[in-house]
Amino acid sequence: MSMTLSPPPPRSLPLFPDLRAFLAHAEARGDLARIGAPVSLRHEMTAVQLAALRRQGPILRFDAHDGPTLPVIGNLFGTRDRVAAGLGLLPDQIPAFGELLASLRSPTPPRGMRDAWSRWPMLRAALSARPTILRNAPVQGDGLPGLDALPVQTPWPGDGGPLITWPVVLTRPQGSEDLGDYNLGVYRAQVLGPDRLILRWLAHRGGAAHHRTWMRAGQPMPVAIALGADPALLLAAALPLPETVSELGFSGVLRGQRTELVAARTVPLMVPARAEIVVEGWVHPGETAPEGPFGDHTGYYNAVEPFPVMRVSAITCRRDPLYLSTVTGRPPDEPSVIGEVFNDLALPVIRAQIPEVRDLWLPPAACSYRMAVVRIDKRYPGQARRVMMALWGMLPQFSYTKIVVVVDGDMDIRNWDDIAWALATRMDPARDVMVIDRTPMDYLDFASPLEGLAGKIGLDATTKIGTETARDWGQVMALDPAHAARAEALLAGIMA
Ligand SMILES: Cc1cc2nc3c(=O)[nH]c(=O)nc-3n(C[C@H](O)[C@H](O)[C@H](O)COP(=O)(O)O)c2cc1C
Repeated sequence: MSMTLSPPPPRSLPLFPDLRAFLAHAEARGDLARIGAPVSLRHEMTAVQLAALRRQGPILRFDAHDGPTLPVIGNLFGTRDRVAAGLGLLPDQIPAFGELLASLRSPTPPRGMRDAWSRWPMLRAALSARPTILRNAPVQGDGLPGLDALPVQTPWPGDGGPLITWPVVLTRPQGSEDLGDYNLGVYRAQVLGPDRLILRWLAHRGGAAHHRTWMRAGQPMPVAIALGADPALLLAAALPLPETVSELGFSGVLRGQRTELVAARTVPLMVPARAEIVVEGWVHPGETAPEGPFGDHTGYYNAVEPFPVMRVSAITCRRDPLYLSTVTGRPPDEPSVIGEVFNDLALPVIRAQIPEVRDLWLPPAACSYRMAVVRIDKRYPGQARRVMMALWGMLPQFSYTKIVVVVDGDMDIRNWDDIAWALATRMDPARDVMVIDRTPMDYLDFASPLEGLAGKIGLDATTKIGTETARDWGQVMALDPAHAARAEALLAGIMA
């Protein structure tokens, strides 16, 4: 992979050391709306959040809901621009940042890497910088008596109870207090009572891996949950970073400032000093409870399954804390907006592995990972199939991508009309479809005949070349661009 990093532009956005700074920035730009009308935490707030998201609307602050008095913040990352801002970027800086992430993933530093690092000195310092430890932290300025003091949403009518939807769960492996070994992940948490909740970390997540180390040692596991963390920490926790990159360190890169931590009050963990709320507690070996059902990103309710229980030992908070919430459902939802930006960030990594991939889109409507549309510059027969197999075989993040459509370089892969046209005119269902059986699959996919094992389909909608076809291929019709421009100008005059 060639390194084409250019020096980072001076940060044009202000620093966002905490959620409040981000909200103030948004409010000053007219991108935050306060809702004074009563809204119920049960289901109704979901409708308002999703309606705002569909309109590319502002961050919402609910001041008059029917729960405990803390204001609820919703739709935080409901637009692409706000996700970029949370990453410390303007939207057009996302591709360059993707190049940087690609360099972090590279197993061996590519040639020129040293030079690249030397041109990003700020970044290098930030990545290697250890978080700052504070003695007094805003998040310990006050406290709450129990989880029932939080305005927790029950998002969907079929949900099994109140659900904390934006928790940043901090864990460390048994036997290590090194901050570099900490894991931060967003794992939804069902509230069981004032001092108990369920942590739903899926088996392949960092939190679950840490849990196994404590289980093996037969010891209770300390856990802390940051609610209303700063945007950089929220996004670093949600980003699938390589194992070798610490989320605490990486969030410092995004924030432009080292992460500030403070010792938790009742568990041996360091916690984000500027979060709105921190829930501290313990997961005892073997203690689980049935979690769910809850509406999930697929647009269906998950099955009820056992997950570990956390017993809360303290809740600390800032003075006048805010409660950050979101909703997960059939796309588009907030996680799918975040996912689309993350996918753009991943493109350089994919292109480094499969150079003929010009562009790749994971349609949010297809749950952000179950379908991929790939644009290639086709040069030889069979190339589309090679690309499909490379995606499935070389890149773990495509293990659960059931459908891959490959199109030519003249298609806009983010346009369903182009995809439909390519499929309708450049694909033969008997010749150009590759179906494979018994491959790994997301166990949440109930359409799979077996749990965790399912088929994949690849649709080659590229122009057939060489021995791929014996027939003359059609020629794409197009008008002279000058005529098209003249037509636009004429019609603008007639129809204005
Ligand atoms: C709002 C939101 C909710 C999420 N809920 C869950 C969840 O309940 N369980 C889970 O395992 N991952 C969930 N995720 C995805 C993980 O947070 C994400 O994949 C993260 O990168 C995992 O970090 P890890 O690789 O350090 O475990 C959620 C993500 C978001 C943004």
